[in-house]
Amino acid sequence: MAKLRVGLVGCGRIAQLVHLPLLMRLPDVELTALAESDPARREEAARRAPRAAVHPTHAELLADPSVEAVLICLPNALHHHAAIDALDAGKHVYLEKPLATDLGDARSVLDVWRRSGLVGMIGFNYRFNPLHQSARRHIERKIVGEIVGARSIFSSAARELPEWKKNRQTGGGVLLDFASHHVDLMRYFFRQEIQQVYAELRSQRSEEDSATLELRLTDSTLVQSFFTTSALDEDRFEFYGTNGKLTFDRHLSRSVEITDAARTMIEVKRLRQACESLARNPPLFGRFLGGAMSRRSPARWLTSSLPLEAR
Ligand SMILES: NC(=O)c1ccc[n+]([C@@H]2O[C@H](COP(=O)([O-])OP(=O)(O)OC[C@H]3O[C@@H](n4cnc5c(N)ncnc54)[C@H](O)[C@@H]3O)[C@@H](O)[C@H]2O)c1
Repeated sequence: MAKLRVGLVGCGRIAQLVHLPLLMRLPDVELTALAESDPARREEAARRAPRAAVHPTHAELLADPSVEAVLICLPNALHHHAAIDALDAGKHVYLEKPLATDLGDARSVLDVWRRSGLVGMIGFNYRFNPLHQSARRHIERKIVGEIVGARSIFSSAARELPEWKKNRQTGGGVLLDFASHHVDLMRYFFRQEIQQVYAELRSQRSEEDSATLELRLTDSTLVQSFFTTSALDEDRFEFYGTNGKLTFDRHLSRSVEITDAARTMIEVKRLRQACESLARNPPLFGRFLGGAMSRRSPARWLTSSLPLEAR
């Protein structure tokens, strides 16, 4: 069988780290063309794939009729244009996430793809990670009972970002970068659609670099998530069920951790017994009774539970 002739569109950080070495390794694939607008990156990619034709932008690569399929790893704001142009040029498309930066553009990519008869795929790679697949099986088999709710965190260390990731207009912001993965995974884990969304955004080091997200799925499951590109590397899920909890972190876990509710209850009881002296003589009551005996108590003892303006 003839090898599939593939073009790599955008040779930035992730393409040089993941896509390029993979394409060079696969036996049934020939990396025949590269497109990269940054001269230094273009040179580096050309050095690593010396047999590929090298183009300064995606448009020139897409005009090459010998390229049968493309992997698009461009800044997010260029995704929908590049995907539509590639499909119009008759090429199969693997498009890095997100599909587009707004719903209208995402719909137009889908319309063109549906008419094209070509293969189209979005880069939600974590659906193929054994940890995420195992979590979905655990949820389906009710290993911790019926799921009551889920929490997730996707955070990265405060690294320098490319300019386009610092601005929502050019496709930046943590919702498109990280939350798109977790929103996709929640739909994957639960086989449910999202019924309701609430988000809060904060711009600290760059525009919209932190966000909280609350989702209600169609079966009413509640999901709460936090995303930031300004803290430390963490990609963590917690699923609370009627019999316990499932947890894992993509960076740190080898498998999904199961916490059994009955075992936790025994452990809590054991620890409580170990702290019996504290339970017999709780310091809070001691303070109250001491205050009452001396008839002296700081005003804040009662007012600290009220907001300042209500005191
Ligand atoms: N699936 C994942 O887990 C994952 C992980 C990281 C990044 N991504 C996605 O990959 C894409 C690239 O991210 P990145 O971190 O590598 O960004 P990046 O900025 O490092 O790479 C983008 C590259 O595209 C080049 N470029 C811009 N316009 C071009 C044009 N018209 N023609 C050719 N090249 C052009 C830039 O010079 C740059 O080198 C983003 O969409 C991002 O969301 C996905």
